Amino acid sequence: MNASTELILELVRVEKKFGSFQALYGVDLSIAAGSVTCIVGPSGSGKSTLLRTINGLESIDGGAIFFKGELCHEEVRGGYRVPVSRTKSREQVLNFGMVFQSFNLFPNLTALQNVMLAPKTVRGLSQSEAKQVAKEHLARVGLGDKLGNYPNELSGGQQQRVAIARALAMQPEVMLFDEPTSALDPELVHEVLEVMRSLANDGTTMVIVTHEMNFARDIADELVVMADGRIIEQGAPREVLSNPQTERGRAFFAAIGEQHEKQVS
Ligand SMILES: Nc1ncnc2c1ncn2[C@@H]1O[C@H](COP(=O)(O)OP(=O)(O)OP(=O)(O)O)[C@@H](O)[C@H]1O
Ligand SMILES: [Mg+2]
Repeated sequence: MNASTELILELVRVEKKFGSFQALYGVDLSIAAGSVTCIVGPSGSGKSTLLRTINGLESIDGGAIFFKGELCHEEVRGGYRVPVSRTKSREQVLNFGMVFQSFNLFPNLTALQNVMLAPKTVRGLSQSEAKQVAKEHLARVGLGDKLGNYPNELSGGQQQRVAIARALAMQPEVMLFDEPTSALDPELVHEVLEVMRSLANDGTTMVIVTHEMNFARDIADELVVMADGRIIEQGAPREVLSNPQTERGRAFFAAIGEQHEKQVS
C-alpha cells in the first residue's frame, strides 16, 4: 500500500453491452500506481466484466481506458476509435497480469514449467533465464520447495499461488484478481490472501474482485461497490463500510454481514 498520486489506470465513462444487455454503465475509476483497489458487489453486477475490459478481454462500447495516460486497447485513426493493431494489443495486454478463480494451470507441466512457459514463449527469455525468473517468483509465493510438483500434487491454495507466480513472472504493471479465493476450501483461503497482502506491501498495483470483506477492509486503499453495472460506492474502506451513501450499498453490506454471522455461528 504505497499508493502515490500518479494514476496508472483510468477508466472514463466505460460502457459495455452484450447484445441488448448493458453490463456496464458509464464506469469511472482511477487507479493510483502502487494502490490496492478491492471491488465487491452482488453477483451479476459487472465486476468480472470490468476486469475483463481493463485487460482487453472484452472490448468496450463507450468511454475510454487509459494506461499511463495513453488510450489502451484502442487507437484513434482517421478521427475514429478503432481496436489497436494485434502487435500493439499484445504489448498492451502484457501490462496486466490476471489471476482467476479457477487456476487454469497446465496439468501436464510442473509448477516450475507452468511459470516458465509465458516468459519463454511470449517474452522470449532463454530457458535458463525463464527458469531463474520462475524460481524467484515461486519462492516469492512460498513454493520454492514445490518446483517439480504437478498441479495434481498441489493443494488448491498452492495451485492458486503458482497461478499468481505465473502472472507475476511476466512482470505486469497491474495485477488483476477475479475472486482468487472463491474456489478454495476455507482453510486454504488464508495462504493465498497472505501472498496478496505481501504483494500489496511491496507496492504492487492491484485490482481485486473479492468477497473477503475483512481482507478488503484491511488491505484496500480504495473499496468499490458495484451494482447493476454501476459503481454505487467508492472510497476508503472504513469510510464506505461505516457510512454507505446509497440504499443499495447499505442493503449489500447488511446482506453480507448476515451471511458472515451465519458462517461463524
Ligand atoms: N459474454 C457474455 N454474454 C452475455 N452476457 C454476459 C456475458 N458476460 C457477462 N454477461 C452478463 O453481464 C452481467 C455482469 O456479469 P459479470 O460476470 O461481470 O458479473 P459479476 O459481478 O462478476 O458476477 P459474479 O459475482 O457472479 O461473478 C451479468 O448479467 C452477466 O450475465
Ligand atoms: Mg464475476
